[in-house]
Amino acid sequence: MKIIVTGARGLVGTRFLANYRDKYDIVTLGSSHEQRVDITDREALLTALKEHSDAQALIHLAAYTNVNGAFEQTGDKSGAAWQVNVTGTENIAEACREFGFYLIHVSTAFVFDGQKKTPYVEDDQPHPIEWYGQTKYEAEKIVTTSGAKSVILRIDQPFTHVPSAKVDTLWRVINGLRAGQLYPQFTNHYFGPTYIEDLTRIFDFCLRQQPTGLYHASSGETWSDYDFACSVRDILHLKTDVAPGDLEAYLRTTKRPYQRQTALNIDHLQKIIDFKLRTIREAISQVQLA
Ligand SMILES: NC(=O)c1ccc[n+]([C@@H]2O[C@H](COP(=O)([O-])OP(=O)(O)OC[C@H]3O[C@@H](n4cnc5c(N)ncnc54)[C@H](OP(=O)(O)O)[C@@H]3O)[C@@H](O)[C@H]2O)c1
Repeated sequence: MKIIVTGARGLVGTRFLANYRDKYDIVTLGSSHEQRVDITDREALLTALKEHSDAQALIHLAAYTNVNGAFEQTGDKSGAAWQVNVTGTENIAEACREFGFYLIHVSTAFVFDGQKKTPYVEDDQPHPIEWYGQTKYEAEKIVTTSGAKSVILRIDQPFTHVPSAKVDTLWRVINGLRAGQLYPQFTNHYFGPTYIEDLTRIFDFCLRQQPTGLYHASSGETWSDYDFACSVRDILHLKTDVAPGDLEAYLRTTKRPYQRQTALNIDHLQKIIDFKLRTIREAISQVQLA
């Protein structure tokens, strides 16, 4: 099966390629490597994709993911965050409809405001509170109404057990613990970590079964930053102390709004997949420290 992947050099894309390069005939499109295609350039994108119109599916991972950088661009539709996440996704969805590619679009728990006390379900109303979340919510609406056969997978704080060029949630903690410089970890901020290796299995499942609609696709677990860091320390036998931090105190020092709780309920996904997701503890246990 021939498939196209955007953002293949990013945190998630790198692992999909590592795990599935032998199973699929993969064409990668990115702004900074040999297949240079800027997804915000509609004509260039359509021309590039025309050459691969025999592909059956497209996994769209290209995004502007710097949340602080996006916040600086709030309201600026000519900025990179809107251009890549909204205009770029619009171009991708149009191409998928035109060429008949099944589209796997990845979105984020940051479409929610973080006020809910329990994990978010797909029926909860998005209400982004900062620009990155807003651009990703706009992208979801575009995909949904594009006419392309598509699935939207929402994730939260993806990480994996091997170090990547982009330091993820797990390695930020490991590196901080090993250097004895881990900043205080919030006891009152909750998230729903996503083990990227399992996410790539979900992509593989989607490529095989082509479900449509919206699915939450994290681990389904809820963690505080503090408990996560303590578990990383204990599972990996690191000796450093983890200091507790207070999100509310931090929020008084910054203008950027933060979602207090972004864990996702994955019951909807669990009903369709044909394999078992690993627990976060199992995922952390895969790390092999030199
Ligand atoms: N990381 C997170 O914490 C997180 C959380 C929730 C959801 N997500 C979502 O998960 C997906 C994958 O995220 P990620 O963390 O793997 O992203 P990432 O590491 O930041 O990589 C994004 C990739 O997008 C590509 N890209 C950016 N602008 C482009 C453009 N104009 N044209 C073509 N390609 C462009 C880049 O490719 P090149 O290197 O080739 O330029 C980059 O490698 C995204 O949809 C993101 O919104 C991420």
